[in-house]
Amino acid sequence: MKSEKTATLRQALSWTLPTLVLASATLLLTNCSKTADTSQPGTFTSVYNQVLNQSTCVSCHSAGGAGPQAGTSLDFTSKDSAYNTLTTKYASGLAAGNACGSVRIIAAGNPQNSYFMGTLFSDYRRNNFAGATGCMPADHTQTVNLTADEKSSITQWIQNGAQNN
Ligand code: HEC
Repeated sequence: MKSEKTATLRQALSWTLPTLVLASATLLLTNCSKTADTSQPGTFTSVYNQVLNQSTCVSCHSAGGAGPQAGTSLDFTSKDSAYNTLTTKYASGLAAGNACGSVRIIAAGNPQNSYFMGTLFSDYRRNNFAGATGCMPADHTQTVNLTADEKSSITQWIQNGAQNN
């Protein structure tokens, strides 16, 4: 009876042990890939790490890039320059023209009035954007395609007051 039980236990262990080892290896791997960005979604750190600091933005929005050449004052080279230009500047690109000149790039607490949203989120683009007569934000969605997670992090960050957090 006793040896039968031990045999069953051994058999059970022979399955459970490798499964456990596999499971912990998977956990370890998952954790490793996450250490690249540990910031909270909805903070400026996560917006910068996940979106702005990617070559897709920096390649154009830095000195000599296509962004400044088209008149935008956004500079995503560093986290500080990104935060400072985004939160203090007004729409200034070619398509913005004079009609959007009074619209803030980021209106803290108000995604609906943030030109950033108008250019990058197709569902936010509309004429007379942010109440500025004749303002239609440039369509940036041809150049950049943000994921749903990135979009919700950006929206949350602006809604929470666009802090430097
Ligand atoms: C291929 C080059 C290119 C890439 C990549 C790019 N941009 Fe742009 N961006 C531009 C240009 C050019 C303009 C000006 C467009 C216009 O007004 O006609 C612009 C305008 C903008 C504006 C409006 C600024 C203003 O003052 O009018 C925002 C906001 C913006 N980009 C954010 C981003 C973000 C965020 C990314 C990355 C997710 C990004 N861009 C990637 C070239 C680029």
